[in-house]
Amino acid sequence: MVTKSSGAVCGVCEGRTYVIERRGDRAHARVCTCSEHCTLCEGRGYTYEVREQTFSAKVGPKRYEVLVPCVCQHRMKRVAHFNEIGLPGVTSHASFENYRAANEAQDRARNLAMHFAHHYDKAGVNKGFMLSGPVGTGKTHLLAATLKHLVLEVGLEARYVEISLLYATIRRGFQEGKSGGEIIGPLSDVTVLAIDEMGKGRGSQFEMETLDELIARRYNAGRTTLFATNYSLEPERRAPRSSAPSGYRSTEDAKSAARDTELLRERVGERIYSRLCEMCAFVEMPKDTPDRRRLIQEADMRPGPPPGGPRGMGR
Ligand SMILES: Nc1ncnc2c1ncn2[C@@H]1O[C@H](COP(=O)(O)OP(=O)(O)OP(=O)(O)O)[C@@H](O)[C@H]1O
Ligand SMILES: [Mg+2]
Ligand SMILES: [Zn+2]
Ligand SMILES: [Zn+2]
Repeated sequence: MVTKSSGAVCGVCEGRTYVIERRGDRAHARVCTCSEHCTLCEGRGYTYEVREQTFSAKVGPKRYEVLVPCVCQHRMKRVAHFNEIGLPGVTSHASFENYRAANEAQDRARNLAMHFAHHYDKAGVNKGFMLSGPVGTGKTHLLAATLKHLVLEVGLEARYVEISLLYATIRRGFQEGKSGGEIIGPLSDVTVLAIDEMGKGRGSQFEMETLDELIARRYNAGRTTLFATNYSLEPERRAPRSSAPSGYRSTEDAKSAARDTELLRERVGERIYSRLCEMCAFVEMPKDTPDRRRLIQEADMRPGPPPGGPRGMGR
């Protein structure tokens, strides 16, 4: 928001008119104090809009004024909806601007997410995306930045779910006597759904059936879904372990090697994976992409400022 007196952009929200903060375990939005008093409607909530319509050819076009909800009302609705989408508190700082690409794949990941968010076509078909990569490479960061833009700037309805929390919620719902459809319904219908940690879980029949139903419903309805996963997308990434130099490997090493090479396709099954291929553009970040959590921790242990400026801003 540009203040009338100085013409300067608000330093708190940088002109966005809203602020996102961490509140408990959730990212929470509020209207910035610079925009709490609306100068457009003076707090009435409505403004007049001039319309022109031809009721009769003889009289010709007539202009008339209608009352329409003011932009401040839309802002409040968007902010209220943002607080229901389920974004974790740790993502409250995440934006496209403070995402740093350490390699070409991360650059592609950011561009893909940013392009998706900025060119979302409310009237058309919007292909989602799938970000795959090792831990701490900013997958959740980009999902959060995308949902923030879609909800607060575009005014879309969205939801974020972490897959194991989704399974837990559905299980709890069953115990409370709800049906699977009843619980999955809202997630099937939401305009944009972001599913984080895809492929995680025990792979039980219950989990697979739940995921199958959710993905199939969204696929059939042509809805847009975004994903993040630690599992690999490309079969050729599966290193031929048998040809690796032989030597002692502990059980833990062997287990972690198996995890390393596991494919999302194997985790979710052919039926789901095939649908994902049609629903999404894929980006995979290589195994040597730096883990930002470790970088931050290492920088915290060194004297001087952490990388990218103060904590919570330029991380
Ligand atoms: N490329 C990046 N640029 C800026 N910040 C980043 C980047 N990657 C990660 N971060 C920051 O590091 C922290 C961890 O990132 P995030 O949770 O997005 O990782 P992730 O890829 O989802 O990891 P995981 O696979 O463990 O879920 C967050 O605070 C995030 O903002
Ligand atoms: Mg994550
Ligand atoms: Zn402000
Ligand atoms: Zn107003």
